[in-house]
Formats: sequence, C-alpha cells, structure tokens
Amino acid sequence: MYDLHAHILPGADDGARDMEEALSMLRTAAADGIKGVAMTPHVVPGLHDNPKEKVLRLTEELRAAAAGIGIELYPASEVRLSDETPEGLKSGAVCAINGSRYVLAELPPFFDSEKIYGLMHSMREMGIVPLVAHPERNPVALEDVECLYELAAMGALMQVTAGSFLGMFGDDVKRLAVSMLERRLAHVMASDAHDNGSRPPVLSAALREVSKLIGERAAKAMVDAVPEKILKNGQVNPPEPVRPKKSLFFFSDLPFFD
Ligand SMILES: [Fe+2]
Repeated sequence: MYDLHAHILPGADDGARDMEEALSMLRTAAADGIKGVAMTPHVVPGLHDNPKEKVLRLTEELRAAAAGIGIELYPASEVRLSDETPEGLKSGAVCAINGSRYVLAELPPFFDSEKIYGLMHSMREMGIVPLVAHPERNPVALEDVECLYELAAMGALMQVTAGSFLGMFGDDVKRLAVSMLERRLAHVMASDAHDNGSRPPVLSAALREVSKLIGERAAKAMVDAVPEKILKNGQVNPPEPVRPKKSLFFFSDLPFFD
C-alpha cells in the first residue's frame, strides 16, 4: 500500500513535531503494511509555508534517519487552493507529488465554486492533475456534492481519507465518503495522518471496510495501483462518475479501476 497524504515531516506543520515522532509514525505505517508514504506538509498562505526546497531537504533528512524502517518516502505537499496557487505551481515553489504532474490540492473550508473551477482550469491548462484532498470533509461539498462532479469532469482526481469510512469524522462525512464510492468519485484512499494517536498513518482497517462495499480488487486499487501510477507520473484513467440523477444502481455493476 501507498499513503499519498500524511503530515510526517518533522516540524513542518501541525503533524509530527520532531524527528522522534516522525520515526514513530513511519514505524506505525510500515507495521500496517504501507510501503511508501508521500510527505504532504500543509501549504496555506499566511499559516504554513512549505516551499519545495524545504520539503526536499526535510524529506532527505527524514529518509536518512528512517533508513532501517523499510519504507519509501516521497516529497509532496498539500496545497490549499488560493489565488496564489497557480503562481506557486508555475514558479516551481510548490512541491508536486514526487515531482509528477499530480498535486495534492485542498479545497478551502468555505469556497465559491466558480472561483475554484477557475483555479482548477488554470491548473489543468498547466498540465497539472489536481488530486483533491478529502473533499468528503469539506463543508461546501457536504452541502453540494455536484461541485465534486464538476471538478472530476475537469480532470481532477479525489482522495478520500481512510478514517472517513470508519466514521472518525462523523456520520455525514462517512455518508459522503461512501456515496463517493458509489458514484465512482473516490480514486485514492490515504491516511491524512497527523500523529500516532487519534490520526495515525494506517490504511488497513478502512481498506477492509471499503472492500466490503466495492470488492477487494477495486478497494486495493485505491491504495496501491492508483497511488503507484501517480507516484510514477503515469496516466490514471478514472471511470466515468455517476451523476446524482442516475441514482439507481448497484455496487456490483460498477466498473472500477483495472
Ligand atoms: Fe492533510
């Protein structure tokens, strides 16, 4: 399994506070069967400043310290979409996922849909494929799932947080996460780990739950084949999402990833 969303870089944001905690989190991930983790510190204007150069340096330092754990580390970031995002991507200041065309992009807690579509359009024009971080936890998306279809139609992929399937963020979030599976809008599952306590870097428990819903093969693709393609800058071809009007179908009818 690969985890494409985790706050493990020591001291970079509200995740691991120091090297000791970072190493402890990596041991937890390895014990859960995770063989590679993307380092995705927050990039939020005025709050968290994690330029590419810093991410690369910290990833290298952590990689050296974690040599005995047996887990791969990949540089990345979690960029909160703002007016500054296109410029950060253009200048190379923002760290894409392992240097690929894929960028982990977080929707602001409250946003104007048209503005977000505009930012998405700019990113797509630059050849970037946004991987939208945990939209199932976003207050706007919870009210208006239609915006997720629009983003998917523009070529964005969606990353759902493992804990959302386990009810860690409440019933509404769980409902939307499951609904995203039903609608073929969930492409990647990741931990969004922040510590080794309430938000650890684990995927296996959620993988079991998702397997019950969409089958083991399709569930595993969300933590294995699809993340691996992203890390290698390969082409991800997501299935056509099901729009709300076409609501009558069964899980077993759905073609998921190969
Ligand atoms: Fe995150």
